[in-house]
Amino acid sequence: MDKKEIKDIILKGDKVRILFVCLGNICRSPAAQGVMERLVEESGVADNFEIDSAGLYGGHAGDLPDARMRAHARRRGLNLTHRSRPVRESDFDRFDIIVAMDDSNYTGLRAMAPTPEDERKVVKMADFFTQHPWADCVPDPYYDGAEGFENALDLIEDGCNTLLQRLI
Ligand code: 4NP
Repeated sequence: MDKKEIKDIILKGDKVRILFVCLGNICRSPAAQGVMERLVEESGVADNFEIDSAGLYGGHAGDLPDARMRAHARRRGLNLTHRSRPVRESDFDRFDIIVAMDDSNYTGLRAMAPTPEDERKVVKMADFFTQHPWADCVPDPYYDGAEGFENALDLIEDGCNTLLQRLI
């Protein structure tokens, strides 16, 4: 999705609908949802956005975010309350931009997209990194220690900031 397509979404005058996607929807994507919800609130544009998150693996459906991610996010003033849910085919119809946390999520989402137009809605979070130009994804912190969660949050904040700047 290029800048013109992003601008076209805004010009439609409708809400901009963004879905963040990772594997389990308990670490990275609910954190991205929380970060973006705060950013649109702080920027005074919350009414113009709908933000959600989902996972390609449905095994954690109904769960709160991982306790470690909630603790690290809380240190940054974020209270993560999303309940995990799997990505649905209807998400490709509802959302304008679907943001994949890593290459595996990106490939999985593109394979799932019902139409070529829907496929083009899928972008990588790494496309929006400006403070971390060496990074090419938000790595899965699930099997990491504290530094993995901090790194994921740093990358997510970077990507969300840039994405929002491009949208408003
Ligand atoms: P996430 O992390 O994709 O950032 O939510 C994971 C959480 C759980 C699993 C994998 C990744 N899991 O396989 O259970």
